[in-house]
Amino acid sequence: MESSRRESEMEIDAPGVALAEPVTAPFAGVPLLDLNAQNLALESELKDAFERVLRSGRFILGPEVEKLERELASRLGVAHAIGVSSGTDAILLALMTLEIGPGDEVLCPTFTFFATAGCVARTGARPVFVDSCPSCFNLDVADAGRKIGPRTRAIIPVHLFGQPAEMDGVLELARANGIPVIEDGAQSLGARYKNRCVGALGAFGIFSFFPSKNLGGFGDGGLVVTNDGNLAARARDMRAHGARPKYHHKYVGGNFRLDPLQAALLAVKVPHYDAYTERRRANAAYYTEQLSRLPGAVVTEGAGHLCGEKTTPARPGHAARVVLPGAHRDRTHIWNQYTLRLRRSGDRDALRDFLQKRRIGSEIYYPVPMHRQECFAYLDDVSLPVAEALAEECLSIPIYPELSRRQQDEVVSAVAEFLES
Ligand SMILES: Cc1ncc(COP(=O)(O)O)c(C=O)c1O
Repeated sequence: MESSRRESEMEIDAPGVALAEPVTAPFAGVPLLDLNAQNLALESELKDAFERVLRSGRFILGPEVEKLERELASRLGVAHAIGVSSGTDAILLALMTLEIGPGDEVLCPTFTFFATAGCVARTGARPVFVDSCPSCFNLDVADAGRKIGPRTRAIIPVHLFGQPAEMDGVLELARANGIPVIEDGAQSLGARYKNRCVGALGAFGIFSFFPSKNLGGFGDGGLVVTNDGNLAARARDMRAHGARPKYHHKYVGGNFRLDPLQAALLAVKVPHYDAYTERRRANAAYYTEQLSRLPGAVVTEGAGHLCGEKTTPARPGHAARVVLPGAHRDRTHIWNQYTLRLRRSGDRDALRDFLQKRRIGSEIYYPVPMHRQECFAYLDDVSLPVAEALAEECLSIPIYPELSRRQQDEVVSAVAEFLES
């Protein structure tokens, strides 16, 4: 089924490009993501971790999982971190722990990956879709306010593409209506909103270790975080069939456990995480510096609370044709994606084809908003115009940490050529 297709299949299938490519080598293309460039640099440590787990004979939970949970809790500034089987299962576990189910409504953005709304539907609750901010692509808090009703039981802001959502607004809305917030930080591990890590602000935060995420694992994995000891204890029980003690089932939970092998391999990457983020930030700054010189390019301006379209002016004589992504000044963007908006009808698909011919990877995150998905046709037919426009206009270009300047220059010159054509 198309809607269940993994969002990063394209990326994972993309051929790798050697990181240590000599400057004189012929142009080999630019993949959207190059997992080998990051993972093979850590090959001997990863093999050591594998061997340690192999020899331990301990393959379900245990010290490797607990160590990763402690390290990530401390990095994120949260009291409790619970390793789980995927980001999707993290959302489901949070919803199940909050006892959300049939008859309930949960607000979530329409312009995002399927997992958020999918998990709401799997509990039997109704996803209620919210429009997006045209500048930062995150949930539009004013629209969320309009969608709150007597059945609303939770709100799930997604920190999309690596940039925190407008959390003051979300938290205020949740407080005024007495509902919990589950932060979907799958794409934003370590991103900060006013100096606090995302995931630490709501009742629950969730993260994903899917290979294309900034802390990319070796298969599926995820994390649930919370500062609430009672919720943490309950979520831990729910992670293993709701049992406490063993074989005495207090709740109907599931098998949502993170494997110790996955935890041990991820722990090898954790000390490098800040350096990966810095490289992503430097890559984003370089793109913005280079691309903003092109005729028809404008940059999204972020100043504290923005929601509403605000960009730098286009060069005289040129209409704004490509909008470069901006970062709010009161939060840190960790650039899981660098997403362009092509404003002229048909340009987004044309640029994608143009890049493909030059062996440059790109991806459309996301071509169909959730309220237009076939599986949600049973819900109210709503119009969410900003998200609908984003789905037509957005294109993400390579931003991974190991991207070389030469590769970025290839991307920039291809975009320049496209705009001139
Ligand atoms: C915003 C968002 N939420 C949830 C998920 C689900 O994570 P996972 O793939 O680990 O199940 C993803 C990514 O895949 C995502 O991008």
